[in-house]
Amino acid sequence: MKIAIILGSTRPGRFGAQVADWVMEQVAGRDDAEYVLVDLAEYDLDLLNEPTVPGAANRQYDNPKTRRWSETIDQYDGFVFVTPEYNHGVPAALKNAFDVLYPEWLHKGVALVSYGADGGVRAVEHWRTILANVQMHVTRGQVSFSTMLETEQDGAVFAPAERRAKELGNVLKQLTRLTEATSSLRP
Ligand SMILES: Cc1cc2nc3c(=O)[nH]c(=O)nc-3n(C[C@H](O)[C@H](O)[C@H](O)COP(=O)(O)O)c2cc1C
Repeated sequence: MKIAIILGSTRPGRFGAQVADWVMEQVAGRDDAEYVLVDLAEYDLDLLNEPTVPGAANRQYDNPKTRRWSETIDQYDGFVFVTPEYNHGVPAALKNAFDVLYPEWLHKGVALVSYGADGGVRAVEHWRTILANVQMHVTRGQVSFSTMLETEQDGAVFAPAERRAKELGNVLKQLTRLTEATSSLRP
């Protein structure tokens, strides 16, 4: 089973890089799946500019950037979205990256790791309604870091609470079980 940890902020100096690195550190010893970091910023996706609606495109995209993204996402059985919360919702870059594909996500497993002043929980709830449209199987558990309480040096340095490692472990257990159990649904 292959799980992509998607670093969903593309901003220069993004805080999310520290969160994604922490997730990668935590998965280092796990043998339930192969975990790979996928950095959205490396794909430089355009705002959806495909003439055919992704759900009807059958993976035939005009834009080479979309094709490269499609080939990457197709390789994975499940995902961990590392997501900030922007204006009480999901970040536009990651939403666009989600919108430009369709069958590549279909019926796959997904877990949400968020961060923000209130843990990014509004973005998580927003993601849950979005992911449902592509019939993704979202874990009940999530990890939501407070950028107020779990940082040092005026918010610059990520300092996760001790309990977070166990929380993430529980979420990944849910994710690998869901991903495995739903594999027969995938095209
Ligand atoms: C456009 C924008 C909107 C934001 N809106 C929120 C918000 O609604 N809630 C929140 O907790 N933080 C918000 N923030 C602060 C972010 O949590 C903080 O900047 C964080 O570092 C963003 O993640 P990133 O650095 O990985 O992009 C916002 C930041 C940006 C850039």
